[in-house]
Amino acid sequence: MANAYGRHGRERQDHDRLQPLLEAVVSIGSDLDLPAVLDRIVSAARVLADCQYAALGVIGEDGQLSEFVAHGMTDEEVAELEATVGRPHGQGLLGLLVSRPQTLRLADMTTHLEYFGLPAGHPPMRRFLGVPIRLRNEVFGNLYLAEKNGGAEFGSEDEQIIEALATAAGIAVENARLFSESQERERYGVIEDRLRIARDLHDVVIQQLYAAAMSLAAVTHQIDQPAAATQVNGVVDLLDDTVRQIRSTIFALQPQPNEEGLRARVMSVVRDASGPLGLTPSMELTGLLDTDVAAGPSEDAVAVLREALSNAARHARATRVDVRVSLSEGDLTVQVFDNGVGFSPGARRSGLANLEARAERLGGSFEIGPGGSGQGTTLTWRVPAL
Ligand SMILES: Nc1ncnc2c1ncn2[C@@H]1O[C@H](COP(=O)(O)OP(=O)(O)OP(=O)(O)O)[C@@H](O)[C@H]1O
Ligand SMILES: [Mg+2]
Repeated sequence: MANAYGRHGRERQDHDRLQPLLEAVVSIGSDLDLPAVLDRIVSAARVLADCQYAALGVIGEDGQLSEFVAHGMTDEEVAELEATVGRPHGQGLLGLLVSRPQTLRLADMTTHLEYFGLPAGHPPMRRFLGVPIRLRNEVFGNLYLAEKNGGAEFGSEDEQIIEALATAAGIAVENARLFSESQERERYGVIEDRLRIARDLHDVVIQQLYAAAMSLAAVTHQIDQPAAATQVNGVVDLLDDTVRQIRSTIFALQPQPNEEGLRARVMSVVRDASGPLGLTPSMELTGLLDTDVAAGPSEDAVAVLREALSNAARHARATRVDVRVSLSEGDLTVQVFDNGVGFSPGARRSGLANLEARAERLGGSFEIGPGGSGQGTTLTWRVPAL
């Protein structure tokens, strides 16, 4: 009887714990926002293993902690640790879970050979249950608990439940990563497409219209009948106008102003240019670029930078490119230096003409010429920031 009763009691107990586990797993799988998922896993772990502390660390591609969520400490304890030692460094037992990914269940972690000690300000802990979070052969991080409520040791049931949770966590982490990658790719695809269309318009359509307008303009003085000459001149004006319209379309096709600040946009333009340049430009950003530059100038600065870097990539044959964007005394300056073949004055086509026009429209200035030491090319574009 006692056995039957015992087993029955056990089953009920298991059932009581299985339900929240299932709920936790289902809710984990349905959320694609990684930090939210991790937070749920940690709080589920703490409830399911009935313990005081639960934490989860995810390791990024560089081997460092990329995400860290902890439950159970007071805000003061967290603040103090953040201020003194920051997040766990993955030494000792936490490192062990990654380097030798297997469950670690200890009655007293302080006696373990790999125990590294806890930093000052960390609440004391002895009971420990740590499981690696992994999927197939990749270890994503670890989930670890300490101090079961009531002082008991973690048992094998806790172990099984937390292992199940860690498995779900591994899937959730990968799910969230794949989702954000696919979103990124989608976004990137759209931008690439727009840029390709803009380039085609700029490189092909505008050039052809220019050529047509110029050859027409050249023949007008050979036309004897005044009426015909006027008509041809009208066509030339029309072509000029079309070029202007296409320019504004190109401008509109460039990535739109969005919530992203100027700094981030400068960085992404520079990053995108590294491929075509075959090198990574140095970058110097100074001043309150995100808050103290109006949308118009900031928009233009990004376009200017893009053209300057594209010129450096296409014409300069440089081994070094320096980008400077600064806000100083109310002026927004974009400066691009390259140590390449140098710029011959007079060579000015639609790209540079466009930069000049953008500077003039905003009451600013534009210069292109030899670099500081006489070598290479320096382009300087400056406009009032507001
Ligand atoms: N960084 C540079 N180094 C050397 N030469 C340059 C540099 N930037 C521009 N040039 C020269 O100046 C010319 C004019 O540049 P511009 O941007 O106006 O036209 P483009 O790049 O040839 O054509 P696009 O109209 O597509 O921009 C280039 O063709 C090139 O000869
Ligand atoms: Mg150009």
